[in-house]
Amino acid sequence: MDLKLSDPSLLKTSAYIDGQWISSDKTLDVIDPHSGRCIAQVAKMGAEQTQQAIEAAEAAFELWRAKTAKERSKLLRDWFNLIMQHEEDLAQILTAEQGKVLVEARGEIAYGANYIEWFAEEAKRVYGDTIPEPSADKRIVCIKQPVGVVACITPWNFPSAMLTRKIAPALAAGCTVVCKPASETPLSALVLAELAERAGIPAGVINIVVGSSSEIGPVLTDSPTVRKLTFTGSTEVGKKLVAACAKTLKKTSMELGGNAPFIVFADANLPSAIEGLLASKYRNSGQTCVCTNRVLIHQSVYDEFTQLLIKAIKERLVLGPGKDSKVTNGPLINTKARDSVAALVNESVKQGATIALGGDTDNLGDCFYPLTVLTDVTNEMPVACEEVFGPVASLLSFSTEEEAIQIANDTNVGLAAYFYTRDIGRVWRVGEALEYGIIGINEGIISNEMAPFGGVKESGSGREGSKYGMDDYLEIKYMCMGGIDQ
Ligand code: SIN
Repeated sequence: MDLKLSDPSLLKTSAYIDGQWISSDKTLDVIDPHSGRCIAQVAKMGAEQTQQAIEAAEAAFELWRAKTAKERSKLLRDWFNLIMQHEEDLAQILTAEQGKVLVEARGEIAYGANYIEWFAEEAKRVYGDTIPEPSADKRIVCIKQPVGVVACITPWNFPSAMLTRKIAPALAAGCTVVCKPASETPLSALVLAELAERAGIPAGVINIVVGSSSEIGPVLTDSPTVRKLTFTGSTEVGKKLVAACAKTLKKTSMELGGNAPFIVFADANLPSAIEGLLASKYRNSGQTCVCTNRVLIHQSVYDEFTQLLIKAIKERLVLGPGKDSKVTNGPLINTKARDSVAALVNESVKQGATIALGGDTDNLGDCFYPLTVLTDVTNEMPVACEEVFGPVASLLSFSTEEEAIQIANDTNVGLAAYFYTRDIGRVWRVGEALEYGIIGINEGIISNEMAPFGGVKESGSGREGSKYGMDDYLEIKYMCMGGIDQ
């Protein structure tokens, strides 16, 4: 394989259970989406090993929760430092298996590590409460305790950051974890385990099993030992997981699909809106849950904005292999993803959308879809109803603020929304009216570890990052003390 790492021992291809690297005769091929070549074969785990991982996490839980918050904080901080020390190697691994451009891969490693740094700090701030008592001989005290063993199921689009965003608050709270990363991108998960081990995080606290969802998923959802399941992925799979977790009434946090509107009002600063749109639409070649999915443009600036967008894409964005430094946009994760984007575009064109840029198949490789702009889109077309997960900007027009809000909210999901205006009254009206968990106002990049990430409606439940990010990993225990003599 042509992956050159300064520390080759960071490339792990075995599962990590109870502090041991476990191999297997059965393997999964990890494919570079650019070349289509297999870059590694990773040990495939099944139901039995998943059960072992749960038992290891259960055994480690008692020791881990018993550590002081300061001790856990220090270990998380050491893990953060090691990740940042090896940032370049981790980025190279990420680009090789996921396809995103190196500059974004480096950004993701730092972004993911920031969650570890943040929760290393938050670990020391898990405060309880005293509550005024209803009678003189009683006192009410609330403490917060870790929920227990947590299952983390993570996607291929952010194979490093989505894992750290779950593991870090879990460990900070005193929980232990069993993680199932996406089969497309296991290497970015396994290298995190290697660095956690080097940081001194004890055996069993983090366990990583790679394999098929149909074998591993039911073991995680059915186990009474697993007390919480956290998932990032599609709404369809999230619903199935929540239903499966109902059998043991596990806590769940679901970070699911989006259909982000990006509204450009007539008074918007258009160059700044173009910047925001390039970032929010074409980041990771359109493969994020918070990527703009529908661009709603006021009719008075529709043509001007469309031309500015096409010009900016032609001048600034370059499609190609992620490791090429001139490239801004890499391939999609696999041919299935490429075919799905093509099908949504083609069906929308049949229904009246116009291809203003791109739209053809590209000859760069099987997983590439061209940077595309569609005009004359309506909210009923497939590119507007479904999450495209590709580099396609679908442009709709509107005439009033009320209509923009109505179109934006006309979807079953509600993760991120963006709008551009200079009118302060409109900022508040629209910000409050949009049914979304995250709103970018004159801003296209909204993700960071200090802010709460999560959606409403069928975009899921729970918040990741921020001062709220540990709540989902903690139980509140109310202790009523009686018999206090007066
Ligand atoms: C996601 O696509 O699920 C996460 C995107 C982000 O963290 O910005």
